[in-house]
Amino acid sequence: MSDSTGTSAGAASTAGAPRHREQWSGQLGFVLAAVGSAVGLGNIWRFPGTAYDNGGGAFLIPYLVALATAGIPILWLDYSLGHRFRGGAPAAFRRLWRPSEALGWFQVGISVVIALYYTVIIAWAASYVVFAADQRWGDDPSGFLFGTHLQVADPGVGFDYVPGVLLPLIGVWIVTLLILAGGVQRGIERANLVMIPMLVVIFLAIVIRSVTLEGAADGLNAFFTPDWEALAHPDVWMAAYAQVFFSLSIAFGIMITYSSYLRRRDNLTTTGLVVGLGNSSFELLAGIGVFAAIGYMAGQAGIAVSDTSYQGIGLAFIAFPQILSTMPGGSVFGVLFFVSLLLAGMTSLISILQVVSAAFQDKFGWSARRGALSVGIPMAVVSCVLFGTTTGLYVLDVADKFVNEIGVLVSAIASAVLVGLVTRKLPELQAHLNNRVGIHVGAWWRWDVGLLVPVVLTAILVTGLIKLLDEGYDPATYTDQSLVRWIGWGTVVVCALIAGASMIPRWRHDPDAFIPEQLPDARPVTEGAAR
Ligand code: ALA
Repeated sequence: MSDSTGTSAGAASTAGAPRHREQWSGQLGFVLAAVGSAVGLGNIWRFPGTAYDNGGGAFLIPYLVALATAGIPILWLDYSLGHRFRGGAPAAFRRLWRPSEALGWFQVGISVVIALYYTVIIAWAASYVVFAADQRWGDDPSGFLFGTHLQVADPGVGFDYVPGVLLPLIGVWIVTLLILAGGVQRGIERANLVMIPMLVVIFLAIVIRSVTLEGAADGLNAFFTPDWEALAHPDVWMAAYAQVFFSLSIAFGIMITYSSYLRRRDNLTTTGLVVGLGNSSFELLAGIGVFAAIGYMAGQAGIAVSDTSYQGIGLAFIAFPQILSTMPGGSVFGVLFFVSLLLAGMTSLISILQVVSAAFQDKFGWSARRGALSVGIPMAVVSCVLFGTTTGLYVLDVADKFVNEIGVLVSAIASAVLVGLVTRKLPELQAHLNNRVGIHVGAWWRWDVGLLVPVVLTAILVTGLIKLLDEGYDPATYTDQSLVRWIGWGTVVVCALIAGASMIPRWRHDPDAFIPEQLPDARPVTEGAAR
């Protein structure tokens, strides 16, 4: 029986006996948590900026192709792995095939890196809830963001701390770790039950207000007008796939972890589709809301939408404040916008950190409380040390680029190759998905995950890598590229080191004693067959 912290009496049983695993209270609890994980800063902060930087409307084509060919199929793959092998990423991959535990830890490494900077953006959003109330940025949102709030210095890694960034950052870590310490039902599920309905209502209100602004149509035209030439650029495709993975919370352990708390008979495929399509609808709505507002602002400034220029982060923290200053009721609208960013970010951050906490709980037999605090506190310290500074913005930008466009892509390719070619377990996972109510997954899924996904993603990754090695990343900003070398390539190396080092300690409970569910028409699965 599991207690509130996720400790299990069963866990104290003999070594080798499977631990009792916490569960969602029901399918709704899971769907809310999975939507909460998927809908995050990726939707509201990252997507509109990425679309804007990658050809506006043209970006929708690679985005939708990426969603159909890799997003939903890999979401189902993650669900099948987590649910069939009932573990966080390292345990699930280990039960798939012993050496692939390393891939699980690589995904944990990616989650660690993302969590370190994700918290920082949430902390900015928290500050902006307050700033929006009196529009503290005055008539210079850009100067306010970079100068007054972040106090940005030259690119590099410095240790000059900015209290206005550091204090909210500490607050975000404390709240999130307290939620995680409550365990799956009492912590994660309850938090999502409160935050997701609030987020949906607030966000819909914002989008409706935005599209009814004067000039909104010009912004929407810019968003939906395809620039076909952009499709010839490999970076646009790389950005699209990376965006889909980040946004759907796939290929870095989250959906594996969350689906491992589902009950045996729960529906996997239909809920996966609901979560995936719900997330993309939210993302498109965010794009519509942001571009409509840009259209309004361009109209007020008497310029064309194409003449506005914002970089990714600027869209939320510069363009929006600028828009709020010119519109009636801007303060209320602004507070609501940043509250929605805060809520969306928190529910995703919870899931990213749960990947790390669950991995340690599985490996060392820890309770939820011990998992959350033991891994969360050191991470909080690193996050504050690296990002609460005048150079935090650059470190964040470079880490975000490399961990998503290289780390997550490598992880997705490795997962597909492992299940498809190395272990040849795709038929077993397909049968697992189909062995309960829900949409029937056809043979196309095996071809897609086993062949199309690795081939397409490898082509995208290799092209992107060649360009990155050739030209460096954003040479205009990072003139000597030393930050790119240390933080960018460094994050990928750190993930690989975490993967290697974490294989060494012994498991508290033998993970291989686990017996997967028997499937109809499958040969009997015996103990140890998953090795
Ligand atoms: N899926 C989360 C997001 O979109 C990580 O922000």
